[in-house]
Amino acid sequence: MARITAGVATSHVPLLGVGIDQGKMDDPYFKPIYEGYEWSKKWIAEEKPDVIILVYNDHASAFDMNLIPTFAIGCADEFQPADEGWGPRPVPPVKNHADMAWHIAQSLILDEFDMTIINQMDVDHGLTVPLSLLYGQPEAWPVKVIPLAVNVVTYPPPSGNRCWMLGEAIARAVESFEEDLNVQIWGTGGMSHQLQGPRAGLINAEWDQKFLDDLTADPERLRHIPHIEYLRETGSEGIEMVMWLIMRGALGPNIKELHRHFHVPASNTAVGHIVLEKEA
Ligand code: DHB
Ligand code: FE
Repeated sequence: MARITAGVATSHVPLLGVGIDQGKMDDPYFKPIYEGYEWSKKWIAEEKPDVIILVYNDHASAFDMNLIPTFAIGCADEFQPADEGWGPRPVPPVKNHADMAWHIAQSLILDEFDMTIINQMDVDHGLTVPLSLLYGQPEAWPVKVIPLAVNVVTYPPPSGNRCWMLGEAIARAVESFEEDLNVQIWGTGGMSHQLQGPRAGLINAEWDQKFLDDLTADPERLRHIPHIEYLRETGSEGIEMVMWLIMRGALGPNIKELHRHFHVPASNTAVGHIVLEKEA
């Protein structure tokens, strides 16, 4: 049987991909940011997950205003890095576990979550930067990745509670897949940031750190944070944090925090990262 063993959340700041691609890991600006991932790189090399269900958002790379799926699951065999304006990132293609992705799509849809099934798409920094942060620069990604895209770009994004319930449904889907697989679920994006308008550059470290605390201390509070609070307290792009709640919902009630990293600033954001282990 497949089982979810752990959850990872991390910012997916595009600049952090550029820093790795251009060999700037030891640059004084980047060093303290990447150092917070050293523990996680060692951890994942030992954990060796077979599959990551990688919850992220597309930033008008695969989807645009013509097509806005609230929740989409990638079912193709592989996904190429997207050209986001400067050429595609020099990272390997992302290989799916397509049988499992189709199983999850079926399970979710019969469980009353109407997923959009995607058979062709390129994946942008939202998905590839977290892989680089934890796996560095391998020839090929040493793990299968099921992309799960969430609309947080165009209003209305899904509520945190809906995301949480999707996470619970993903856990049911994984547990009903017969192959014996070590599966992780990742939530990406965040933390506080606003990329445009008069409040561009807004960072709210205090709010972000309480969010990190409450992933273990009071997840019920996080489920019910309204959109207006994300917008007011964390800027227009802080809403990316609802994707962390899909990860958290999938882990169930008993979890242990293994590692945390928080640093201000990374590009326009507070960079946040947490590793949570699912306990029996
Ligand atoms: C930035 C952060 C993001 O999460 C993103 O998707 C794009 C840009 C930034 O801080 O520059
Ligand atoms: Fe983003």
